[in-house]
Amino acid sequence: MGKTSVVGVGAKLRGVKYAVVATCSGLVVAALLTNFLWASAYRTLLSKRPQSSSKSVYESNKSIQLPLEENSPLLQWQEMAPAPVDRLDGAALQIGDLFYVFAGYQTIDQVHSHVDVYNLSSNQWGDRFDMPQDMAHSHLGMVSDGRYIYVVTGQYGPQCRGPTAKNFVLDTQTKKWSELPPLPKPRYAPATQLWRGRLHVMGGSKEDRWEPGLEHWSIAVSTGKALETAWKPEVPIPRGGPHRACVVVEDRLYVIGGQEGDFKAKPGSPIFKCSRQREVVFGDVYMLGGDAKEWKTLPSMPKPDSHIEFAWAVVNQSIFIVGGTTEKNPVTKRMVLVGEVFEFNLKTLKWRIVGKMPYRVKTTLVAFWNGWLYFTSGQRDKGPADPSPKKVVRRTWRTKLS
Ligand SMILES: *[C@@H]1O[C@H](CO)[C@@H](O)[C@H](O)[C@H]1NC(C)=O
Ligand SMILES: *[C@@H]1O[C@H](CO)[C@@H](O)[C@H](O)[C@H]1NC(C)=O
Ligand SMILES: *[C@@H]1O[C@H](CO)[C@@H](O)[C@H](O)[C@H]1NC(C)=O
Repeated sequence: MGKTSVVGVGAKLRGVKYAVVATCSGLVVAALLTNFLWASAYRTLLSKRPQSSSKSVYESNKSIQLPLEENSPLLQWQEMAPAPVDRLDGAALQIGDLFYVFAGYQTIDQVHSHVDVYNLSSNQWGDRFDMPQDMAHSHLGMVSDGRYIYVVTGQYGPQCRGPTAKNFVLDTQTKKWSELPPLPKPRYAPATQLWRGRLHVMGGSKEDRWEPGLEHWSIAVSTGKALETAWKPEVPIPRGGPHRACVVVEDRLYVIGGQEGDFKAKPGSPIFKCSRQREVVFGDVYMLGGDAKEWKTLPSMPKPDSHIEFAWAVVNQSIFIVGGTTEKNPVTKRMVLVGEVFEFNLKTLKWRIVGKMPYRVKTTLVAFWNGWLYFTSGQRDKGPADPSPKKVVRRTWRTKLS
């Protein structure tokens, strides 16, 4: 199957009706049949393997010059202290000089249920505490008001298990957790933000982990508590699906990149074994402002980019996005990771490639402090010559933005 057929499915997915009709026709069902090559590749990527922290190349202050692969400028990276655990599909939020890193897969069969905290002033990993037992372990929506961290829905358990609709709040000052009313429906990796006093949740994948959701809900919140008993429907987003960056700057809500479709559980598998499905990665940018009734389409990213929900930081009215996944290789069908930092200037509405990363990596967790752009964790490429995913990592890096 070439690039054309991939685009074709993407077009169908844009309309829910089309997706339903096509699914009923059986055509797309056929197209969705597990690609065994992919499934085994994914198993290899996330298979259990011995911990390798001992041979970690942690050299705290080494500046690294990297070879130019494409025509992007070179960035100088410093390697910092690695996170305590390997982490794929984790979540992260920065409050001041503390960087809270949550959940995620260690391997495809093992997920984390704790929070690690990195101090961006001392550049050290310190505090570690547990998440609530009922909280999802990956594909979370998450946002903070500067003290309270709101955690919505996500996948509960390893492999491709089902989602939970449960939502939680962490008071970062007392380290106490509380609950919020559950979402009307659970979602995988929905776009999540606080905007105009309300917690907004939109898109993501539906309960089967694959079908893009377009729904958008909100609930009024203040100081870690819901002010309403139920979520209110809001204007649906033009394109659904998981793994997008969702950012508020100057009273405007932006939703960037993402994908339609994802791995889903193999029917009848007792361990909900992940099986590869069709997915379409995109670089669309949508914005909600004004009376919040209509989404506006802004210039797309330089290339399609997904798995970026916690891979961004806002600096000087620009959104910086670090790594991700782009369209798969049309010939080998392998997933292609992204190894660049992008900047979206919100004044000019122009994108640019800032420069290269030490390697290509998806689901990076990003912070910005004192002029430094940090990223940690994720799943990296096989090497400079092969952009397909391999090792889940814990390494942490920073580069000076200027
Ligand atoms: C890193 O290097 C800079 C400049 O050489 C130095 O000022 C700084 O203290 C070093 N930081 C660490 C954590 O070693
Ligand atoms: C982070 O570390 C610095 C240096 O050790 C310390 O002064 C600061 O209080 C720490 N931040 C927090 C929020 O604890
Ligand atoms: C942000 O703006 C400040 C003040 O104008 C400037 O010093 C700094 O270099 C800018 N940072 C970036 C990353 O553009």
